[in-house]
Amino acid sequence: MARQLKLALRAYGVGGPGQHSLWKDPRIPKNASIDIDWYIAQAKAAEHAKFDALFIVDSQFINATYPAHYLNRLEPLTLLSAVAVHTRHIGLVGTLSSTYNSPFNTARRFASLDQISRGRAGWNVVTSLDAGTSKNYGLDQHLDYATRYGRAREHVEVVRGLWDSYEDDAFPADVARDVFLDPAKLHALDHEGEHFRVAGPLNISRSPQGQPVIFQAGVSDDGRDLAAHVAEGIYAPGGTLADTQAYYADIKQRTAAVGRDPDHVLIFLGAQPVVAGTDAEAHRLSREIYDADNDFGRKLAAFGRGFGAYDFAQHDLDAPFPDVAALAERGGRTRAAEILRRAREQQLTLRETVLAFTDYTPSPFTGDPRTVADAIESWHAQRAFDGLNLGFRTHDDLARFVADVVPLLQARGLFRTEYESDTLRGNLGLPIPRNRHTTLVEAGAR
Ligand SMILES: Cc1cc2nc3c(=O)[nH]c(=O)nc-3n(C[C@H](O)[C@H](O)[C@H](O)COP(=O)(O)O)c2cc1C
Repeated sequence: MARQLKLALRAYGVGGPGQHSLWKDPRIPKNASIDIDWYIAQAKAAEHAKFDALFIVDSQFINATYPAHYLNRLEPLTLLSAVAVHTRHIGLVGTLSSTYNSPFNTARRFASLDQISRGRAGWNVVTSLDAGTSKNYGLDQHLDYATRYGRAREHVEVVRGLWDSYEDDAFPADVARDVFLDPAKLHALDHEGEHFRVAGPLNISRSPQGQPVIFQAGVSDDGRDLAAHVAEGIYAPGGTLADTQAYYADIKQRTAAVGRDPDHVLIFLGAQPVVAGTDAEAHRLSREIYDADNDFGRKLAAFGRGFGAYDFAQHDLDAPFPDVAALAERGGRTRAAEILRRAREQQLTLRETVLAFTDYTPSPFTGDPRTVADAIESWHAQRAFDGLNLGFRTHDDLARFVADVVPLLQARGLFRTEYESDTLRGNLGLPIPRNRHTTLVEAGAR
């Protein structure tokens, strides 16, 4: 069978980064970001189209200039738990920071979502972009990169250890023998590491998929190494075909280099398709959206996010781009380095830099349904991604993609017509991780 395309829906409410005008659209309820019915409706539409997952991003720092959706939003696991009881097949991937959580709590919350959804949970591990989050957790500063990513790796390892607290047959619940639990199948973790000390065991058993699926987002060297070691899915930023192919090849190579099967790390590229009746109409619509969102004041404010929510408005817009490299050391260093390099090389002013990084770049998936399906098929075949993490502005846009593009992808044998499984792992084609203790027993190591 042809290599299958994976599809996730990245659901927002009133407008995420760059979507400055979306909240004004009459089709968007002004409380969409905190309206659970809004998410349930989108999850059901995506499930009807056999999407692999609903994907919820997150942040924990705002100021008044942040995107509308960020200002008033639901916490991802709470949101996904509510969606879980209205859906049966679609995976539920929530973003949770490894920097600002403790592993016992992380393990418990995702294991609960995994049980509530009967094996459809996924954890998108992020180290948190917004440096200001530190002050919400009693720290003066965001952790430096090496610490953030070291903590992330250990956090995931501890969580996975806790998820194996019970072997799959730990609960005979045998009334006749008066045995609820077989204590030999309950295991403490007794972890003592650089960042965490966690005794365990966790008080919740494994779901039908064994463990929630681990996703990762973050593109620095440290981020890629984390992905190579622990990720089973990646939320990757978009870019040119060449950029995304290079990222794809690099991740697969790093994964193989640490002895893992590269097919067990699925790369989901973020994308916002624009579909219309004709290619010309889609391009006109795409330009119209850009023009409506093209508010320089908001773009300038958003530019500060990776630099610790720095207020660039205090600088002369027509002076050279200010020397703010130090501000990104603990925030979004990878993208900041690219901004600084380009500003320096091309001797750009602050205004020119903001414009250069926010110029009109239509999605490669813009056009009539056939053009969009062709582009998705071609990029997928050229190993720019294994799947797409799709964002749509309105329900109408999602419905149009589902009605007009998905059937073309299905007719080409690229995308499923029925779910293969009831679990996220099963649908992604990922193996169920064996409980480490059961494996030890079978190997005669105990
Ligand atoms: C595609 C993508 C999506 C991300 N989504 C989130 C998110 O939802 N919440 C968050 O706090 N950070 C998110 N991050 C940020 C990462 O957690 C990370 O802190 C940031 O990218 C800086 O690390 P890096 O230089 O390794 O990319 C995302 C990063 C990427 C590339």
